[in-house]
Amino acid sequence: MLKPDTVRRKLIGRIIQRFEDKRLEIVEMKMLKIPKELAEKLYEEHKNKDFFKSLVDFITSGRVVVMVIEGENAISVVRKMIGKTNPLEAEMGTIRGDFGYSTPDNLVHASDSQESAKREMQLFFGK
Ligand code: CMP
Repeated sequence: MLKPDTVRRKLIGRIIQRFEDKRLEIVEMKMLKIPKELAEKLYEEHKNKDFFKSLVDFITSGRVVVMVIEGENAISVVRKMIGKTNPLEAEMGTIRGDFGYSTPDNLVHASDSQESAKREMQLFFGK
């Protein structure tokens, strides 16, 4: 998912380009404004964290782009390309390392396992 900061900063094209340059395949894509209830479901695992409210407020603050990306080991490859959650700790050369400065506005979200990929595809694409 390209988060609202990516859309606001007009970085959609540059970030998608990186996935295509890596020869990953984008097989589904859409833009939407996430309703609060959907955001709370998406980030359910963080609901007891102190940053939960600011995370939900942020992710619902503007349009996002959600995608299904395919490729060999796509989950780990994409997560490597994105870098650590905190952009100040993310390596240069990663998306968060190159473009980010803070959380929760760290530009992108990616599924961290096959289970979460299935769950998140169901939430956004209904399949
Ligand atoms: P994401 O990969 O979308 O998954 C959960 C999000 O929670 C994460 O990116 C960050 O945007 C946010 N997040 C994680 N840890 C913190 C934290 N300590 N403070 C604020 N936001 C956080």
